[in-house]
Amino acid sequence: MKSLFMIMIMICFVMMFDAKAQNFEVEAKKLATDLKSSLMKNLSQKIASEGAVKAIPFCHTNVGPIAKAAANERMNKFEFGRTSHKIRNEKNLAMHWAKSYLKEFQGKFKGDVKKDFIIHKLENGNRVYLEPLYIQAQCLTCHGENLNKSVKMELNKVYPNDRATGFKLDEFRGFIWIKEK
Ligand code: HEC
Repeated sequence: MKSLFMIMIMICFVMMFDAKAQNFEVEAKKLATDLKSSLMKNLSQKIASEGAVKAIPFCHTNVGPIAKAAANERMNKFEFGRTSHKIRNEKNLAMHWAKSYLKEFQGKFKGDVKKDFIIHKLENGNRVYLEPLYIQAQCLTCHGENLNKSVKMELNKVYPNDRATGFKLDEFRGFIWIKEK
C-alpha cells in the first residue's frame, strides 16, 4: 500500500514536469507567432504606404520596439530575437547554442527538415525555443536574388556588411528564438 502511494506521488511529479515542459512550448510558440505577425503587419503597412526603400531604415530602428510592444509583459519571462547563417544586422549574430541548428537548416528548403520547432536545453537548465523561418514571396524584395537597384543601395547604406541576400523562395532564412530568462 505504502509503495503504491509512493508510485502515485512519483507519477504526479513526472506529470507536473511534463506539464511545465509543454507550457514552455505552448507559450514560446504563441510568442513567436505574435512577434512574427506584429513585425509583418508593421512592415507590410510601411511598404504599402511608403515603399520598400523607406521600409529598410524603418526596420532598422523599429524592429526592437515593435517586438517589445508585441511581447508586452512576457518581456519579464522571456528573451527573444532572430538569427541566421547569413545575417544583415550584426546584433543578430548566432549565439553558441544556435550554431549547430543553423548548420542543419542552412541551404534547406521548406519541408526538407522535418522539424517545425526545436527545444534546446542550455547548460543552466533554461530552455530555448527555435522556429525556422522560410522565405515567402514578400521577403524576396529585401532578401532575394534580384534586388531592385534602389533597395540594394539603401541596404548598402544602412547595412554595409549585409549578407542576407540571394535567398530563393521557400529557402531557410533563419530562426526566431525565444529563451527562458
Ligand atoms: C522591406 C525590406 C524587408 C522585407 C520585405 C523583409 N525583411 Fe527581413 N530584414 C530586413 C532588414 C532591414 C533586417 C535587419 C533588421 C535589423 O536591423 O535588426 C532584416 C532582418 C531579418 C532577419 C534577422 C537576421 C538578420 O539577417 O539580421 C530575419 C530572420 C529576416 N529578416 C527574415 C525575413 C523574412 C522571413 C521575411 C519575409 C516574411 C523578411 N525578412 C522580409 C528587411 C526586410
